[in-house]
Amino acid sequence: MRLADILYSQGFGTRRVCAGLIQQGLVAVHGGAASPEICTDGGRELVEDGLVLRVQGVDWPFHAKAYLMMHKPPLVECSRRPTIYPSVYSLLPQPLRERPVRGATQGVQAIGRLDQDTTGLLLFSDDGQFIHRMASPKKHVSKVYRVYTKHPVSEEQQARLLEGVVLDDDPAPVRASDCARLADCELDLTLTQGRYHQVKRMLAAVGNRVVRLHRWRIGGVELPTELAPGQWRWLTPQELASLRGASL
Ligand code: URA
Repeated sequence: MRLADILYSQGFGTRRVCAGLIQQGLVAVHGGAASPEICTDGGRELVEDGLVLRVQGVDWPFHAKAYLMMHKPPLVECSRRPTIYPSVYSLLPQPLRERPVRGATQGVQAIGRLDQDTTGLLLFSDDGQFIHRMASPKKHVSKVYRVYTKHPVSEEQQARLLEGVVLDDDPAPVRASDCARLADCELDLTLTQGRYHQVKRMLAAVGNRVVRLHRWRIGGVELPTELAPGQWRWLTPQELASLRGASL
């Protein structure tokens, strides 16, 4: 692929902006152990595999498609047009927000949403098929939430969460596929559906209340302890393969 096309594909601006960055000597290329080399020829053909761009002094590993995780902090909204708090997208660097998707500067998209006060694991991608499959109810991707409750969780409440509770917008009951009590007011709840405010509404339906909610696992991928709130990182090939795998 030509350097100019590579830069554009990674979200560094319009084709004109990318050509300008290259001409001004602001783009270097390297990969493996080689040291960065400034390249002012946008037509230079490069092998994308293992390529690292250095744009205005900042390294950017080439990714044909973007797959990433974020540790969502509290008091940010998952919407692109937030109403009260800042958007999760404001925590991502510009190239990820501006990657072209089928010719439009669409950027990556959050896969599912967390409430503004919920923290934890949030995935993003620009791969429409992957987003669709991950969000599809048919795929039954499990999500594990650490739930802190206002009142101690009784055995009866725990049993009802597993048996299924009816929420106000649908007569079909929703159930947790697992419900592990960790302390009087602390549960790990595993869900395979993703209805609006599902955890909070399920706990309310059994007569309790969620005071704090944190998602720490999606499928086989756990939120790493070293990823601080507000930080993001690329998914590893192993994490991506496990999310793509059939047995989630
Ligand atoms: N269930 C909720 O109630 N809130 C979330 O953010 C996620 C799941």
